[in-house]
Amino acid sequence: MSSTNETVVRFINITKDFTQGKNVSRALNHVSFEVNKGDICGLIGFSGAGKSTLLRMVNELETPTEGDVEVLGHSLKNTKGKKLRDIRKRIGMIFQEFNLLESKTVFDNVAIALKLNGESKDYIQQRVTTLLEFVGLSDKKDSYPYELSGGQKQRVGIARALATKPEILLCDEATSALDPDTTESILNLLSKINKELQVTILFVTHTIRVVQKICNKVAILEHGNLVEFGNVIDIFSNPQSTIAKKFVGAVIPNVIPKGIKDELLKYDGKYKLIRIFFHAQNATDDVIWQINNRLNVHTNVMFASVSELQDVVLSVITLQITGTEDDFKKVYDYISSRQIEFEEISL
Ligand SMILES: Nc1ncnc2c1ncn2[C@@H]1O[C@H](COP(=O)(O)OP(=O)(O)OP(=O)(O)O)[C@@H](O)[C@H]1O
Ligand SMILES: [Mg+2]
Repeated sequence: MSSTNETVVRFINITKDFTQGKNVSRALNHVSFEVNKGDICGLIGFSGAGKSTLLRMVNELETPTEGDVEVLGHSLKNTKGKKLRDIRKRIGMIFQEFNLLESKTVFDNVAIALKLNGESKDYIQQRVTTLLEFVGLSDKKDSYPYELSGGQKQRVGIARALATKPEILLCDEATSALDPDTTESILNLLSKINKELQVTILFVTHTIRVVQKICNKVAILEHGNLVEFGNVIDIFSNPQSTIAKKFVGAVIPNVIPKGIKDELLKYDGKYKLIRIFFHAQNATDDVIWQINNRLNVHTNVMFASVSELQDVVLSVITLQITGTEDDFKKVYDYISSRQIEFEEISL
């Protein structure tokens, strides 16, 4: 499902202080941002950044010390009783450690919320069968959790979270306990849930590859502060903060390799280095050709990286341009006229 302008979760100036005895520690510090219907929003940060605390506020497992969370148009601060329970029913959650009931079969684990809601036996039978088919576990319905692999357990966790047809799915490190291939298949499943069932997803992780693979939005937290928030493509193209540069640098090299740097230091002509960001596969087709041939300015590709984001391909090319100040200006004007993002970099 593509992102829309309808906000489903709005964090408004959230502060959270934990008090232990006489000590007060601040886990979240005036955090504000919003998640729209159809988004897969990654919450990323190092351990202790406040990711889980923030996520858990969406279904009131945690309450803010200051600020408010609006969920599906309702202020959680001002909503109580049955109305609050109704909102919580519209939210599902999955966890790193799966949290399955070991003494119950796969079928019964998935059926829990439906039984609690007093659904009929026939409906439960039909709904659980559909869900197990959706997550690819039809043949495991009578198995117990100990008979399943980590990836299969997470599929049960996902089916259980989807049982009541939630509009929002909260995922806390849902793939952190899984190997890379299994992680990939779970991320594909979450993507399918977002697209086919129109579920908005908030995904806590400390792995930027997860954000790269499935998220369209990302919020970067550091020591309880929101340091960056926006579209994944924008933050991957142009990370501002040190921490964002560090995360993005892990998937898109933004440091000039030493060998190339040494070569450039030896070079005594006049040149500029620029990094160009192309947001689509075909955008690179003729820009460099045009600079070389139409503008008659000599370029040299120093290095390039291509990363596949959720639905775009981001290519970053570091280019050496050799010439006069006039040549540099011509090139910059030309790239700007093509509405392609670039920045000048230094060694
Ligand atoms: N119930 C609690 N009581 C006291 N302090 C808490 C509690 N829950 C979290 N904290 C503290 O709040 C801060 C943020 O914790 P949180 O679990 O949200 O971090 P996180 O980003 O999810 O980290 P991780 O990646 O390790 O899961 C930490 O310093 C943590 O010790
Ligand atoms: Mg956590």
